[in-house]
Amino acid sequence: MYHRPVLSLSHTVGVMKLQGSVALVTGANRGLGRHFTRQLLDRGAARVYATARDPRRVDVPGAEVLALDITDPASVAAAAAAAPDVSLLINNAGVSTGQDLVTGDLARIRLELDTNLFGTLHMVRAFAPVLAAQGGGAILNVLSRMSWLSYPGANSYAVAKAAEWSLTNSVRLELAGQGTQVTGLAMSATDTDMMAGWEIEKNDPAEVVRAALDGLAAGHLEVLADRDTVLAKAALAADPALVYAGLLG
Ligand SMILES: NC(=O)c1ccc[n+]([C@@H]2O[C@H](COP(=O)([O-])OP(=O)(O)OC[C@H]3O[C@@H](n4cnc5c(N)ncnc54)[C@H](OP(=O)(O)O)[C@@H]3O)[C@@H](O)[C@H]2O)c1
Repeated sequence: MYHRPVLSLSHTVGVMKLQGSVALVTGANRGLGRHFTRQLLDRGAARVYATARDPRRVDVPGAEVLALDITDPASVAAAAAAAPDVSLLINNAGVSTGQDLVTGDLARIRLELDTNLFGTLHMVRAFAPVLAAQGGGAILNVLSRMSWLSYPGANSYAVAKAAEWSLTNSVRLELAGQGTQVTGLAMSATDTDMMAGWEIEKNDPAEVVRAALDGLAAGHLEVLADRDTVLAKAALAADPALVYAGLLG
């Protein structure tokens, strides 16, 4: 299931050096965010701001804990003021509420966009000047195979993650001038709370984070962490009648 990063696009910004970096991880209290925090410290980051809505739930020794709700602009501004030395921003926090678009709960659909899209955008806007002051640095946005694939029962999440992918491509262009590397990480089902209750094959979150950090350090602009994700991206070029053949009735 697990694959090395598969896509490397040439680009002009500097490559992110993890050793000695100052990183900030959103949603660091559990799941992939906790793995990012641990592995960045293991790789020699000088400081890792481990942020969470409830900072009492962060349990990674050596991390610097900050309160942060990415949907609250005041909270994001306070984090940017408290962490003026950040050179690597890991936009990991996200939610999945499993709504269909036609009949689902509109408030939950909005929450997914508020978190995955607008929360990530708040972070990018607040930290762009911080990264510029560090010479450019890097941003890693945690996307999904669902950025490229719809599925009944999770279509609201697919919308939010597709929008976050477009955001990633767009801000990469907007921040190229200040030398900021913007990398997207996409993966299919991974063994965290988000996928609890799904009895399907899942990636090991530690391996996904390892691949993401390897890709980031190698200057890759996209890291596709498993074969299903590689196939989903390749299928963007295919006829939807074929891609969704089993679901169209
Ligand atoms: N697991 C998968 O299969 C999978 C697949 C593809 C992509 N992803 C993506 O991977 C990322 C991490 O997810 P995960 O699998 O680690 O899920 P998780 O275990 O459910 O963790 C989600 C994290 O996001 C935080 N969060 C949610 N809303 C937030 C907000 N408004 N402000 C700050 N933090 C917030 C949560 O904090 P609380 O504890 O306060 O709720 C939690 O720390 C997400 O972007 C997700 O979409 C996951």
